[in-house]
Amino acid sequence: MHLSRKIHILLVSLFVAIIVGGLVAIKVGNEQKTAKRRNKAFSSITDTSSLMPFTGKGPEVCEEIPFSIVSVFVEVYGVDFQNSLLKVSSVFLPCGSFVGSFDSMELFLGQNISFSIDAQASTFPAGQAMTPKLSSVYLNGDVNNYPLDQFDAIFMIRGRYGPTNSELPIQVVVYGAPLGYSLSVETTANQQNTAVAVSVSLRRTAPILGFAFIIMALMWAMSLLAVAVAYFTWFIKKDRKSELPYIIFSVTLLFAMPTIRNAMPNAPPIGVLADQMVTGWAMLLLSLSVISHFVNVLYHTYRDWVVATEHGDAV
Ligand SMILES: *[C@@H]1O[C@H](CO)[C@@H](O)[C@H](O)[C@H]1NC(C)=O
Repeated sequence: MHLSRKIHILLVSLFVAIIVGGLVAIKVGNEQKTAKRRNKAFSSITDTSSLMPFTGKGPEVCEEIPFSIVSVFVEVYGVDFQNSLLKVSSVFLPCGSFVGSFDSMELFLGQNISFSIDAQASTFPAGQAMTPKLSSVYLNGDVNNYPLDQFDAIFMIRGRYGPTNSELPIQVVVYGAPLGYSLSVETTANQQNTAVAVSVSLRRTAPILGFAFIIMALMWAMSLLAVAVAYFTWFIKKDRKSELPYIIFSVTLLFAMPTIRNAMPNAPPIGVLADQMVTGWAMLLLSLSVISHFVNVLYHTYRDWVVATEHGDAV
């Protein structure tokens, strides 16, 4: 193939432009998505008729909330699929009659309040601020299907207050963007807004899926090419043995496979379905090509030896 210099320059510039364009697109797209996901919040309030209106003077943060209610802002900040845990942080905002006193920085409770988020309970005594809480809830899902695995978690949020332990009116706002996962949330409150069920489902984001599938395709392509090379050395160069570079390439690839496999983003330990579909086969094919090369070398070495002895040369 004879290409003119201009075409070479054009091709190289195009190649560079595609790579730079792709990187810029990923960066911009990522920023937009992060912003969008951070703003995306799921609120539990659908019916305010049961809430006690509050008209007194409250702190500034409660201006938008003219009810006696405690708001819980739940951020989904982490996924620990190895231990089946979804990590959430909760920030509480008491408003209306639940605020005892406040300054420019903090609100202090007017009532004793207790909260339960899934299995974890915490109490907040009257006169003190409601400090944020970190909790973990059970995450259900099968990581075996990586990268097409999906997870879901369902948990309840409830509160009680006052000397008679009355049910606490709450609103729950869920948001978050744990790295590598896209989130969908459903919050369901009972009619009195005293209990909220939060249901979170997670799946891997499109870039993670893309990278995982590209890496898997590359693993298949490299192993198939190695097999093809091993196969054709028997036929195309019948009278010559496998060349050293082929052997080195195959052996190197064989040992590189687990590393390449672990480059899949956020991947679980080896053994999942993707490994049964890709890694196992790639290692098998590469081992076969290495063996084929070795047998080829042995075969030719033996033949050379036979030829040499037939001619009566010293070996
Ligand atoms: C909060 O609870 C403590 C101890 O349980 C009790 O002594 C106190 O009176 C309660 N405060 C209010 C405002 O109910």
